[in-house]
Amino acid sequence: MCYAPRRTFWRSMGELSRIGVSIDSDLLRRFDSFIKNKGYENRSEAFRDLIRDRLVGSAVIAPKQAVVGSVTLIYDHHTRLLPEKLADLQHDSHAIVVSTLHVHLDHDRCLEVVVLRGESRDVQKLADRLISTKGVRHGRLVMSSPDTVSRHRHVHH
Ligand code: NI
Repeated sequence: MCYAPRRTFWRSMGELSRIGVSIDSDLLRRFDSFIKNKGYENRSEAFRDLIRDRLVGSAVIAPKQAVVGSVTLIYDHHTRLLPEKLADLQHDSHAIVVSTLHVHLDHDRCLEVVVLRGESRDVQKLADRLISTKGVRHGRLVMSSPDTVSRHRHVHH
């Protein structure tokens, strides 16, 4: 993690509220171990990041909200017509497909990362169609709303 200078940091946070959280001791130990591995300096920052991730990645994004997203797919390229189907889906939605990265993982498997930009509902819909295509072994969409993130994230990276 990196931190912006303190004054900038507080300004970007807006008004600060302090809350108390009751948490199972065992869960807290696991959380402390997790955030130590991630390099957080304190629990508060880790809590804030977890909350932001959940909010950005879930239903609080309105259907017409402008978002960016990346879909990661792992699939077997021997599956009949699968590469063609995935390419067809992307051509059908070319207006929201920014770029595609293709990696030939080994003899059989491919990894594809599709970067999308558009309205939340369109990005989600295309991601669902890609991920649910028969033969795709694993798929995940990571979606961010630039508006939401820029208000909270630190400027320096
Ligand atoms: Ni490949």
